[in-house]
Amino acid sequence: MIMNDEKWLYNEMSHSGVDFSDSREVQIYDSYMQKIRNIEPEVAKMKDALILGSDDSVLDIGTGTGEMAIGLACHCKQVLAIDVSAAMIEYAEQKAERRGCSNITFQQAGFLTFAQPQQSLDRVISQFALHHLPDFWKFIALKRIYTALKPGGIFCLQDAVLPVKVDDYKRYFTDVVKQIEISGGEKVARDTEKTIRDEYVTLDWIMEGLLEKAGFTITSQEYGAPFIGTYLCTK
Ligand SMILES: C[S@@+](CC[C@H](N)C(=O)[O-])C[C@H]1O[C@@H](n2cnc3c(N)ncnc32)[C@H](O)[C@@H]1O
Repeated sequence: MIMNDEKWLYNEMSHSGVDFSDSREVQIYDSYMQKIRNIEPEVAKMKDALILGSDDSVLDIGTGTGEMAIGLACHCKQVLAIDVSAAMIEYAEQKAERRGCSNITFQQAGFLTFAQPQQSLDRVISQFALHHLPDFWKFIALKRIYTALKPGGIFCLQDAVLPVKVDDYKRYFTDVVKQIEISGGEKVARDTEKTIRDEYVTLDWIMEGLLEKAGFTITSQEYGAPFIGTYLCTK
């Protein structure tokens, strides 16, 4: 619950970098994701990683256009899918309705503002959203997730994370943007530049430290191109 005098609280509704509050951006994002992602195997992999059972509840933070939330909903009891962007939530909600998926609740909320249940969630996931927060607020977000999870609960975090072992960052970023331009086109390449420049992508060792200091045990971590980290954590 946000108190009126918490003027110091980071405004997570302000959209750093790409403006996902704009419904045109939401459509562009979804068509790019449909093009580059193979969602069925991704859902299957996530379901296995989470050891997801039919009685489990899942919280998806920064759900975006809802593909993973909708995919997981077929394999569990209930999904709560949240995002700070009203345009994303509206788009994802319509998609879920079209696909006849009725066990998802969509809410406009974020890492720092979701109504925090104490030790009541079985599973939490978040993909490509945490880097919208500066590092201190990432830590607060992770502690909130930790508190909301039941003991033994599982958290899967996938996000943009930079490798510490890169000597020439100019060349590294230039190559990444070039590759993305080839696979996704001009607009996505410009958005990637925005992510690098204006969002808060942190380093791999910092993310590992934040997770551990928040209380999690990291049971597996994977790093892949272009600067993606995937962490499976337990409480
Ligand atoms: C790159 S998209 C990822 C969407 C989706 N998870 C996916 O994998 O396709 C980032 C999403 O994070 C959301 N977001 C940004 N800041 C957030 C915050 N503080 N809390 C929750 N969601 C946030 C954005 O609105 C956007 O929908």
